[in-house]
Amino acid sequence: MELFKGAYEGAVTATSYAEILLAKAIKVHGADCPVKYPDTAYRLPVITALSGEEVNTIGDLAPILNRIRTTNIKEELTLENAKLNGEATLYAAEIIEALRYLKGVKPDQYPYCGFVPDPILRKFGVPLVDQTIPGVAVIVGKGKDSKSTAKMVKDLQAKGIMIFLVNEVIEQCIEENVKIGAEFITFPLGNFTQVIHAVNFAFRAGLAFGGIPAGQRERAIEYQAKRVFAFVIQLGPNDVVKYAAEFGAMFMGFPTVTDQPVAEEIPDWYQSEPDYEKIVKLGLELRGIKLKIVDIPVPITIGPAFEGETIRKKDAYVEFGGGRSTSFELVRMCGVDEVEDGKIEVIGPEIDEMPEGSIFPLGFMVDIYGRKMQEDFEGVLERRIHYNLNYGEGLWHVAQRNMMWVRIGKNAHAAGFKIRDFGEILIAKFKSDFPAIVDRVQVTIITDKEVIEDKIKIAIEKYAARDARLKGLTDDVETYYSCTLCQSFAPNHVCVVSPERLGLCGAVSWLDAKASNEINPLGPNQPIDKGECLDTEKGQWKNLNDFIYANSHNTVEAVNFYTLMENPMTSCGCFEAIMAILPMCNGIMITTREHGGETPCGMTFSALAGTCGGGMQTPGFMGLGRRYITSKKFIKADGGLARLVWMPKELKEFLGQDLIDAAEHEGLGADFVDKIADETVGTTEDEILPFLEEKQHPALKMDPMM
Ligand code: SF4
Ligand code: NI
Ligand code: NI
Repeated sequence: MELFKGAYEGAVTATSYAEILLAKAIKVHGADCPVKYPDTAYRLPVITALSGEEVNTIGDLAPILNRIRTTNIKEELTLENAKLNGEATLYAAEIIEALRYLKGVKPDQYPYCGFVPDPILRKFGVPLVDQTIPGVAVIVGKGKDSKSTAKMVKDLQAKGIMIFLVNEVIEQCIEENVKIGAEFITFPLGNFTQVIHAVNFAFRAGLAFGGIPAGQRERAIEYQAKRVFAFVIQLGPNDVVKYAAEFGAMFMGFPTVTDQPVAEEIPDWYQSEPDYEKIVKLGLELRGIKLKIVDIPVPITIGPAFEGETIRKKDAYVEFGGGRSTSFELVRMCGVDEVEDGKIEVIGPEIDEMPEGSIFPLGFMVDIYGRKMQEDFEGVLERRIHYNLNYGEGLWHVAQRNMMWVRIGKNAHAAGFKIRDFGEILIAKFKSDFPAIVDRVQVTIITDKEVIEDKIKIAIEKYAARDARLKGLTDDVETYYSCTLCQSFAPNHVCVVSPERLGLCGAVSWLDAKASNEINPLGPNQPIDKGECLDTEKGQWKNLNDFIYANSHNTVEAVNFYTLMENPMTSCGCFEAIMAILPMCNGIMITTREHGGETPCGMTFSALAGTCGGGMQTPGFMGLGRRYITSKKFIKADGGLARLVWMPKELKEFLGQDLIDAAEHEGLGADFVDKIADETVGTTEDEILPFLEEKQHPALKMDPMM
């Protein structure tokens, strides 16, 4: 079979090429030259996942390359052998690529991104598990023309698919103004062997979320086949190395669709589809990806790919709020007679009456009736406004409540977007995302200067009442909620969410979990009555333990809510931040996904994440949601906020006044925040200790942590 022959020849070519480059690198840099990708805890992830061989220097690579050649490259043309040839090609590509990163060089220039670091992988953890991102497409080669190729990529973006691009298809997308880059979940990897960065991304998912130990080849592959919904689209003429790489994909459980004629297709695995309108559909089918399609009658594309899109002032057609005009957003629970389903009313000027570059006020009042709706869910639904509008291509929404700031891009205006279309998006999304609690929705949009001043009073009153209610919600409630959403990636991981401790991804609060349980009673958020308290101080309850034990497949026996030193909560992989003990300072530090730099515990975020992810308990280390830091229950058994001695500046700024308030509440004084060191003070314990002493940081006088 021609395909098998290609795989064999491709594997020979790829490994020989790797050998030549490796020999050259050893000659130039010496066998001792360290080799690693930037910002990952998994060294060379393909090798780490499949064989677990430790790679530190380029000298370490030679025996690995030899081994895989001997064991895998087989001339006899069978499907089994073709996959083994594919595996060898993945090794070769990983080696070739890693060699480009020697001596800390950044080998990739715009528009190519090359290796995708761990923090980005973790960032997409939750959307991948909750299937906001339902699958992954790897597009390789050159499409028949830029227009239809770009159309296909945009179709994938609108469907929420994560996309990796390799070869000329990248330039074709740029030519047609397709938005690419990490913020659009569309990664322009580069050329040729750079396709391996899609592969090492997938393998890291297994290592980081699945908790699969390095070198467990069978389990690593099983994880890919079961949990990573990826497929390959091969465009344009193929060559033997690409064939071999495609069998590498098949080895991982990922099918290929090509626009080229194929003499002998492999049904379900390697199929031809020359019609560009049908390629995506076939790929999704072959990989078993099901989409939840909502048709929204607006002239712009709606999809998670556009969530990260920023619209600069100069690209904005019109702007609202952000301190320059009055703005607010409000979701209200209403009675059955108060809501006319589907009604959209615009009070004030439509976009046609707004000159380019102008600023107008904007208010959204979303009235919801639902038999199962509760007042507690208003805030949960209100926060969805941010995502739902941001998903619009050419729409930009930041902040919330009466701080809301919105821009409509010139491109969206040119496409015909109207103010009332905000209402179309909100109604369609609320009804499709929350069918169990939302029966009727109506939206009032206010752009009138006078009316808004009147209506905002209603909103401000509501916010105040809601905040008062939230303040009164403490961990004393009887019922906590589980979250096992991440089990689709981290099979043994269980979060338990309480009013004063949100999930470590930062995306699931106790109220979110409560609402989601109402929406989907058999879903990932289950109510658990705490039952008997086994340890008041550390926060351990019998029924929570039982639940966690059963749902972690009998791996986690007990969890303490309020300490990181003994049986801390497990970490899946998509945590916003990580805390770690600093023995010399008698305290703890926290670093965030956004902060790439070194930290006083001697590890970067990626390295730390590599030690405590995958649903394991690691005393002294724990993933956490940013907002947990200002909770009154923050590691209470360890001494609370007073233990915090180091955090990145970025996190200090993010928490802002809330952190100061929390410090005052703990009796630490408003100036406590200034006693917390950050990267400008130092990134080792030795560097920050004198600062802590000078500032008389309270942790230094507390009981020893260990
Ligand atoms: Fe995952 Fe926990 Fe967040 Fe749920 S709360 S999505 S399990 S990290
Ligand atoms: Ni947007
Ligand atoms: Ni997770």
